[in-house]
Amino acid sequence: MTTAFETYELGSTPLKNRIAMAPMTRSRATAPHGTATETMATYYAQRAGAGLIISEGIQPSAVGQGYTNTPGLHSADQVASWKPVTASVHENGGVIYAQLMHTGRVGHPSLVPDGLHPVGPSPVTAAGQVYTYEGMQAFVEPRELSEDEIAQTISDFADAARNAIEAGFDGVEIHGANGYLIHQFLAPNSNIRTDGWGGSVEGRIRFGVEVATAVAAAIGAEKVGFRISPGALFNDIQDDINLEATYGALVAKLAPLGLAYLHIVESADRELTNTLRATWSGTLVLNPNTVPEPTGPETLALIENGTTDLVSFGALFLANPDLPARLAAGGPFNTPDRSSFYGGDAAGYIDYPTLNDLAAVADVMDRA
Ligand SMILES: Cc1cc2nc3c(=O)[nH]c(=O)nc-3n(C[C@H](O)[C@H](O)[C@H](O)COP(=O)(O)O)c2cc1C
Repeated sequence: MTTAFETYELGSTPLKNRIAMAPMTRSRATAPHGTATETMATYYAQRAGAGLIISEGIQPSAVGQGYTNTPGLHSADQVASWKPVTASVHENGGVIYAQLMHTGRVGHPSLVPDGLHPVGPSPVTAAGQVYTYEGMQAFVEPRELSEDEIAQTISDFADAARNAIEAGFDGVEIHGANGYLIHQFLAPNSNIRTDGWGGSVEGRIRFGVEVATAVAAAIGAEKVGFRISPGALFNDIQDDINLEATYGALVAKLAPLGLAYLHIVESADRELTNTLRATWSGTLVLNPNTVPEPTGPETLALIENGTTDLVSFGALFLANPDLPARLAAGGPFNTPDRSSFYGGDAAGYIDYPTLNDLAAVADVMDRA
């Protein structure tokens, strides 16, 4: 029986186990430059026990930023700022992919440089509000991307992927999930285009497929992962009623590219996961549907029974820097503190204790 604690070959990159850290925005980069910080290097180095770390969402272009204090990979300063982060992960024996996240219509003009405005496949405003430097504000109507701008956006993803490699990342994950730009193209409620980038299933999947193709050409397919969340309702997305039609077609088009992995955020049922896996001969990373609880230790059985190759943990990894060691020991686990998920300083970011920290404290108490 294969267990989560065995090594894995991801493309040409050896992983020390099959436990991935799911991508998590933590909004602690500098503003307005979107550079990574020393504290971020500490945070990721603390979690280098993961077989694979997938970074927080990183904007591939200035207009792709939809939240406060998120980092980018589109300027020389940003590339330089990531080098100490990737180096500290590598020094601790870890592997780290950069998640490229273009938020599309999810954003606000105040979050992007003057003269820019959030963009989308169509001028359809998402219901809801976004956190800005001035507090919560309603989403705005996005500017519809022209065909030339779509081509430019695809090449921005490819450039950001090259920058990620230059910054020392082992690869990139393309964020096609959770209601951001690629998902906005996939879903019929946010994509009402009538040209070759909308309408039919073929049209709606085209943007994601072309981003993946361009990024694979830029850095090598074996360094590229792709994340999807079929049926997720985040950010006012309504996927096609027939998830299998859209996502089956998308996965079938991605499969021949030879990507490093497909990462499924399981919002729908396990049956869909199994169906998609059947058309995907490559590596599967699964963020299993455990709502309302975060992904927990019991999901490692999904590796043992062959449902997936790797399992990704979000909230539990945020709160447990030594998560693989804790999973191997059967716990205990720190509880994630939601109040420090986004923004702020070191508190709730780099101060979650490891089992070793707790043992050291217990030792001191014993001697007292
Ligand atoms: C604080 C926080 C930030 C997140 N940011 C991202 C992100 O930047 N990109 C992304 O694809 N998913 C993001 N997610 C979703 C997680 O990757 C994951 O899919 C979700 O938390 C469910 O997994 P879990 O139950 O293991 O936490 C975020 C989740 C959390 C808790």
